[in-house]
Amino acid sequence: MKVVESPATLRQEISTLPGKRVLVPTMGALHEGHLQLIRLARQTAGPHGSVIVSIFVNPIQFDRPSDVAAYPRPMDSDLAACENEGVDLVFAPQASSMYHPDRSITVSESLLSSGLCGATRPGHFDGVCTVVLKLFLLTGCHAAVFGEKDFQQLAVIRRMVRDLDVPVEIIPHPTVREPDGLAMSSRNSRLSPEQRADAPRIQQALKNAASLKNPADILASARNHIQTSPLTRIDYIELIDAETLQPTTTLSRPTILATAVFYNDVRLIDHITL
Ligand code: PAJ
Repeated sequence: MKVVESPATLRQEISTLPGKRVLVPTMGALHEGHLQLIRLARQTAGPHGSVIVSIFVNPIQFDRPSDVAAYPRPMDSDLAACENEGVDLVFAPQASSMYHPDRSITVSESLLSSGLCGATRPGHFDGVCTVVLKLFLLTGCHAAVFGEKDFQQLAVIRRMVRDLDVPVEIIPHPTVREPDGLAMSSRNSRLSPEQRADAPRIQQALKNAASLKNPADILASARNHIQTSPLTRIDYIELIDAETLQPTTTLSRPTILATAVFYNDVRLIDHITL
């Protein structure tokens, strides 16, 4: 497995990688969810193709500099995990080699990113689009795998690829969960034991609410179930159209019930398709 830090070296190394190149963009601190994306990338690349994993804590998608600094960076164990999964190349650049100090171009999506996580984290999806497009261009990948856990991110990236004619196939992977239902996340390790034991309630609340028929009842039920715990603080809970991601009050089209919940300063997201 090759490990490349500089974009210039990446260009040279890419030309030596055979076959279909499939990229898995990550910010590291890899868990089983990431590893399943890597396995799907391997399957997609086929025996003659190549799997590339990027590990980059992208500073321009964070709203608070303290979060960038606090983001875990267990590089040695991440590299060992990639090696173990048969990854061909890991791209792990420094922020200084990705962004010029006077950079002045940003990729901005203005519809799908307006609500949900985009509303509470201004500029977040511009940062995601900008880095993902750069990673696509730098790696020259033919396909890239993204998790459905971050369904708004997946929708925004699909829109970017459509609207900018980016020649990269976007491959979704279902949300990977702990045995108790909690969606896997690098942030779960920051929960106290008490918070960790409480957190499966998020998925439980969405599941129970999804069995109801009336949109107002669905929202009220999920909200109550989450708020019953004194440890939680709801950032948002919304019913949205699965395609446009705009708020909806009917269930006449495919609909998503989505939430973001704080345990102290740890923010967890989850959703269910109705
Ligand atoms: P990160 O949070 O590291 O996630 C990398 C990829 O793993 C994303 O596509 C995410 O949806 C997927 N993922 C994380 N947890 C998952 C789970 N439990 N089940 C399924 N997929 C999961 O998302 C980012 O990084 C960044 O925004 C990035 C796209 C790399 C751009 O910086």
